Amino acid sequence: MAIETTLILCKPDAVSRGLVGDIVGRIERRGYLIVAMKLMQLDGERARKHYGEHEGKPFFAGLVEFITSGPLVALAVEGEGAVEGCRQMIGATDPLKAAPGSIRADLAQTIGRNLVHGSDSIASAKRELAIFFDPSEHVSRKHDLERWIKE
Ligand code: RTP
Ligand code: MG
Repeated sequence: MAIETTLILCKPDAVSRGLVGDIVGRIERRGYLIVAMKLMQLDGERARKHYGEHEGKPFFAGLVEFITSGPLVALAVEGEGAVEGCRQMIGATDPLKAAPGSIRADLAQTIGRNLVHGSDSIASAKRELAIFFDPSEHVSRKHDLERWIKE
């Protein structure tokens, strides 16, 4: 494993339900480091780009409509194996199939309102992070990382 950076989105349902603190708290308690974070409203163009792999699928239009329906919180999250680790914390796409203790199992009911996005591979993370953050918006947490690895 290596230190990776992944994109996490607290989707509009997470913001409107007041669950951002819970979700971000779980990420922090796992020991992952937030290296960028912002509240933003996504426009259709960026939403279609982010979810480009799903273009043509029956749920695509609804997905874009939902992700642009209100503010979301985007985070760049760093840590050892962070891409897979965050996906584990988020749980399966369908909350009914998500592992107990995961965010979706604990806090969500349906596939269309499953609260969180996490990049599914290192390549996806690189592509998606560039959609949400300028490289200059990433803050170095090098000292925290060194401390955390030593401890
Ligand atoms: P995400 O990208 O949001 O982290 O979710 P994921 O990897 O677990 O799932 P993905 O297959 O990438 O699907 C993206 C989002 O589209 C919605 N979806 N609906 N109705 C359906 O069959 C269906 N399949 C996917 C979900 O909201 C999912 O999070
Ligand atoms: Mg996905």
